Amino acid sequence: MKKPITGLLCAVLCVLVAATLGACSKPAPDQAASDAAPADQTFTVGMSQCNLGEPWRVQMNSDIEAEAKKHPELRVIFKDAQNQTTIQQNHVREFVSQGVDLIIVSPLEAAPLTGPIAEAYKGGIPVIVLDRAVLGEDFTMFIGADNVRIGEAAGRWIKNRLNGAGKVVELKGLMTSIPGQDRNAGFRKGIEGSAIEVIFEADMRWLQPNAQSEMESALTRFPEIDLVYAHNDPGAYGAYLAAKAAGREQQMLFVGIDGLPQEGMAYVEQGILSVTFEYPTGGREAVQYALSILQGETVSKKVVLPSRFYTKENLAQGGELLE
Ligand code: FRU
Repeated sequence: MKKPITGLLCAVLCVLVAATLGACSKPAPDQAASDAAPADQTFTVGMSQCNLGEPWRVQMNSDIEAEAKKHPELRVIFKDAQNQTTIQQNHVREFVSQGVDLIIVSPLEAAPLTGPIAEAYKGGIPVIVLDRAVLGEDFTMFIGADNVRIGEAAGRWIKNRLNGAGKVVELKGLMTSIPGQDRNAGFRKGIEGSAIEVIFEADMRWLQPNAQSEMESALTRFPEIDLVYAHNDPGAYGAYLAAKAAGREQQMLFVGIDGLPQEGMAYVEQGILSVTFEYPTGGREAVQYALSILQGETVSKKVVLPSRFYTKENLAQGGELLE
């Protein structure tokens, strides 16, 4: 049985001791199982989310919250960086000075977050990097799906659907983030050897309004577009809205990534998207691994989450696993 009062006291004491000594005793990353924490110890986890503007990120936070609720010994502090790298860098530093026991970060951009994360990790705070990777190896573990694989599967699907030839618009995710780079590289690999031509490409920074205005430019410049490949479902939907406003949405197909039930899957159901590729949030897994780390267990450096894809044909059966 957990003792919340004792746990709270312990947390308060820990903060007091930290304030006095300037350091709170915390398990080192990749610590051995013999150092396991006492059963009634409470842990504070700092979670830095890069923004909460998209449904996918709201879902990630609620997945974390739902899993953390099952573990009363965990307290999660959520912070929202509002799509600003400097705010997110500060989050990590604030968590360090607060003396949290573990940090989860879903970084906006790779390079600028690498330093603050490395400092926290080297200072003895375990860090789980979630969904968007950073550079190097100075963090405890990375959890996320394989974006090259997803991009490549999208490319192969598009190649088959267009019978190997066609004019495609690629609306890219933020290209200073690794998922944007990987979804682009994977896609290019997937269409290799075909007569598919990428006639227009733009960085819409994962945002629906940007995708919509980029697509307006593409529509103005190109009288013939067969398909739009967007790096996420909000991007694909933005493109669809632009095409619809131009009365051309029936002339082309739309492909997206994320596959949330309330977003991408619903678009597929409504016939707006032809296919969406699931990008799991990893929120539940992050909490489960956080607990393992806090209990002193050794964890893998990288956990790759599986992904599915959803079309109108396979939606009812729960989609299909990517090869
Ligand atoms: C949300 C989001 C998702 C995308 C993920 C990539 O901010 O853009 O749509 O799949 O981030 O990290």
